[in-house]
Amino acid sequence: MAERSAPVGVMDSGVGGLSVLAEIQRLLPNESLLYVADCGHVPYGEKSADYIRQRCRHIARFFRAQGAKAMVLACNTATVAAVADLRALYPDWPLVGMEPAVKPAAAATRSGVVGVLATTGTLQSAKFAALLDRFASDVRVVTQPCPGLVERIESGDLSSEPLRQLLWGYVEPLLAAGCDTLILGCTHYPFLRPLLAQMVPADVAVIDTGAAVARQLQRLLGAHELLAQGPSRDTAFWTSAEPDALIAILPTLWRPSSNVQLLDV
Ligand code: DGL
Repeated sequence: MAERSAPVGVMDSGVGGLSVLAEIQRLLPNESLLYVADCGHVPYGEKSADYIRQRCRHIARFFRAQGAKAMVLACNTATVAAVADLRALYPDWPLVGMEPAVKPAAAATRSGVVGVLATTGTLQSAKFAALLDRFASDVRVVTQPCPGLVERIESGDLSSEPLRQLLWGYVEPLLAAGCDTLILGCTHYPFLRPLLAQMVPADVAVIDTGAAVARQLQRLLGAHELLAQGPSRDTAFWTSAEPDALIAILPTLWRPSSNVQLLDV
C-alpha cells in the first residue's frame, strides 16, 4: 500500500515532459516528483511502438523500485504506444497518459479547421485515429508531423534561425489551410511557444494538454487517497544519456539542479 508521501514518477523520451512537470508542480506543490528523461533513446517519434513499449516497461519498473505511488507518461508518443500495456501490467497503479487536445480544440475553433503538430508516431497511431473519430467529426483536422524539432529542443535550441525555418515549414501549411486553433501534440513543443508567438497571428489559439494532465493526476491521486500533504522533496532527475547534458539544459527548461543521476536501464 503506497503512502501519500511517496513520489510521483514522470517520464518522457527526453526533456519535453518538463513542460508537464511544471504544470504538475504548479497544481500539486506538495507532491515529490521523480523525472526520467530517456535521452539515450530520444526521439521516440520515429521509433516503433514495440521499441517504445519496452522502454516504458523498463522505466515503469524503475519507478516502482523507487516506491513511486503513480506514474505520468508526459509524452504523447509513449502514451499511444504503451499506456494500455502498462495498465494491463499494473492495473492498480495510478497511471496518467496524455493525448493531443483534439476535444477542446474542436469545441473552440471558429473557422472549423484545427491543426495538429505532433510526432509521426502519434499521428499514425490507431489511438489518434480513434480520438478524431470521437471528437472531431464536425471539424476539419489538418495534421503535421514535425521531424527534427525534438532534436533541436533537446540540444537547448529554442530560437535559432534554422529552428525558426524548420518550424515555419510546419506551421505555414496549417495557417494556409485556415486553422484558427493549433494543437501542440508533443510535450517538447510548448517550449517553442515564444517562437510560435512570433509567427502565428494573435487570433490563432495555441493549446496543449500539460495543465489537463496535472488535473487528471490530481483527480486520480484524490480517488486513491494518495494526495500528498507535504512538504515535498527536491525533484530528482534521471537520464539514460550523459547526466552533465541534462544538468546543462535544466536552467533553460526548468531551473538549475544537480540532482541528476544516470538511469541504467
Ligand atoms: N515528447 C514526446 C511527445 O509528447 C515525444 C518526442 C519524441 O521523442 O519524438 O510526443
